[in-house]
Amino acid sequence: MPIVSISLTSELLRKLDTFIREKGYSSRSEAIRDAIRDSLSEYELSKFERGNVTATITVISNRGEREIDERLMKLRHKHDEIVSNNMHVHLGKKYCLEIFITEGEAEEILEFIAKIRSMRGVRQVKYTMIPLTSE
Ligand code: NI
Repeated sequence: MPIVSISLTSELLRKLDTFIREKGYSSRSEAIRDAIRDSLSEYELSKFERGNVTATITVISNRGEREIDERLMKLRHKHDEIVSNNMHVHLGKKYCLEIFITEGEAEEILEFIAKIRSMRGVRQVKYTMIPLTSE
């Protein structure tokens, strides 16, 4: 197997080691391989999603950063034709949770998700996509 070296922040490494312990992985390599497989399968699935879909998008952001809420709302307005609803919740003092319910062309929704992912202050983005087929 080829060997690659990666750089991680000490915070991320600490979290990774906790994750490895709790999930029972035998090594960091095994855990990282699994995480990469997960990301790649999400990516590959997204390439095959076409046509009309509905997606629920969950976004966790840092509560301290005021502009992040504003930037998310600006983006929401810009994509008004695909965002049916959204909800903003505070998780303690540290995080904000935003849920977007969307419907439209898969490609457009994935573009919306990519824009959220690239925002500073956004910590995590997860989504569930369901095709709306006519049959
Ligand atoms: Ni907030």
